[in-house]
Amino acid sequence: MAERPIGMFDSGFGGLTVARALIDLLPGEDLVYLGDTARYPYGPRPLEEVAGFAEQIAELLVHRWNVKLLVVACNTATAAALESLRDHFDVPVVGVIEPGARALVEATETGRVAVIGTIGTIDSGAYQRAAAAVSEDLDLVALACPGLVEFVERGEFASEQVRLLAQRLLQPAVDAKVDTMLLGCTHYPYLARTIGDVMGRDVVLVSSADETAFDVRRLMLDTGLARERRSGGRATFVTTGDVNWFEELGRKLLGPELDRAERIHWP
Ligand code: DGL
Repeated sequence: MAERPIGMFDSGFGGLTVARALIDLLPGEDLVYLGDTARYPYGPRPLEEVAGFAEQIAELLVHRWNVKLLVVACNTATAAALESLRDHFDVPVVGVIEPGARALVEATETGRVAVIGTIGTIDSGAYQRAAAAVSEDLDLVALACPGLVEFVERGEFASEQVRLLAQRLLQPAVDAKVDTMLLGCTHYPYLARTIGDVMGRDVVLVSSADETAFDVRRLMLDTGLARERRSGGRATFVTTGDVNWFEELGRKLLGPELDRAERIHWP
């Protein structure tokens, strides 16, 4: 069982932030990453539709790649489907929302914090609930940021347009004088410079990537799913969209481990 790969997915490139953290923390593990780039963005879609996509992808990762554990490397899919995936599959399923909320609470000093995410994630209330479960003393501003994901998928991280959009969307968090902002969409760490410029250098930006990787490691050690070897893990990348673009932008974002991707078509 331990020899099997870890499976993970996102609507596109965002989950590569979590893949990077997993590869760095667990270099002996094999990984299969699926980016559903043909159907991104997930954020504006009804949660039931996203839950259906998550179910379909999990099915593929479990049955075709025989994964031993699933990481839902997408906040929107975590909000939409974490519980149902846990009910339907007999492998452990790790989401990014709870680890993100923990990272946020650990980082704040004043308790005035913000979380930004897709419409689906923010409207689901999942972060508001997860943060309240970790700490009762938070003053939380939750902001949906439609449009940011599309810039990342196009490989546009610091243009004038993305800066203007970020300025408009993040103004309520600037006004609230938060000391910490959680990037509650796995795409957003790629916009950290732009978001950081808008928020100012005193605001700490946190993401769920590292905390999620630590959760995965702890869970695998507790359940005997961790591999013995400490190096030599292989990562496989799969996209439902344009394979050349996935390889080109993915390599820039993740690094040399993404040397090739394979394309799958939904039936
Ligand atoms: N990266 C995903 C998330 O964390 C969603 C992006 C999208 O497709 O809207 O929510």
